[in-house]
Amino acid sequence: MSTNITFHTGSVSAEERPALLSQKGVTVWFTGLSASGKSTVACALEQHLLHLHKFTYRLDGDNIRFGLNKDLGFDDKSRNENIRRIGEVSKLFADACCIALTAFISPFRADRAVARELHEKAGLAFVEVYIDAPLAVVEARDPKGLYKKARSGEIKDFTGISSPYEAPESPEIHIKTDECDVAEAVKRITEYLTEKKFI
Ligand code: ADX
Repeated sequence: MSTNITFHTGSVSAEERPALLSQKGVTVWFTGLSASGKSTVACALEQHLLHLHKFTYRLDGDNIRFGLNKDLGFDDKSRNENIRRIGEVSKLFADACCIALTAFISPFRADRAVARELHEKAGLAFVEVYIDAPLAVVEARDPKGLYKKARSGEIKDFTGISSPYEAPESPEIHIKTDECDVAEAVKRITEYLTEKKFI
C-alpha cells in the first residue's frame, strides 16, 4: 500500500490529447477459453489497424506472463491480479490514445467488470469482445496440448476443465470462431470501431 502520494494531472486536457494526435483511445478486451482464437483475432486486428496507420498495441496473456506478470500462476487470486494489472495497463494505453487490444482468458465476470469500470470512470471506452467456441471445439484444437494435460490431471486449475469460465452476458461484440473465420472477425470488429468513431 502506497502512502503520501499525490496524483498529478496531465500536461494537456483529456480532450486535447486525442485532438492533437487525431486518434481516440479505446480498449478492446478479448475474452474466451484457451484456444478459442483470442490471440489469433487480436493479432490479425492489430495488423489490420497498423496498416490503416492507427496507433494500436496488443497485450497478450501468453506474452505478458513472461514479463510483467511472471510472478502469477493460475489459481483464482493470481487470475484476479493478472486481470487487475492488465485493466490498469490497458487503461494507460487507452489514455495515451492507443487502441489497446487485450487477449486474456479473463474468466471471471467480476474481474472484467472491474477493468471496464476503471476505464469508464476515466471517461475511456471499453469494448468487450467475446471470442466464443465450445469446449469440445477448443479441446479438439488443443494447439499446445494443454487440454490433454488438464484432462489427465497434469495441469490443475485449467479453465473450462477444472477452473470455471464465466461467459460475458452482454459483450459489445460476440464472435463464434467455429462459425466465423479470422478475416470476418476482423471485419466485424473494424466495422464496430468505425461506427463508434474510434477509427
Ligand atoms: S487468465 O485466466 O489469467 O486470464 P491468461 O490469458 O493470462 O489467463 O493465460 C492463459 C494462457 O496460459 C493459456 O492460453 C494457456 O496457454 C496458458 N495456461 C497455462 N496454464 C493454464 C491454466 N491452468 N488455465 C488456463 N490457461 C493456462
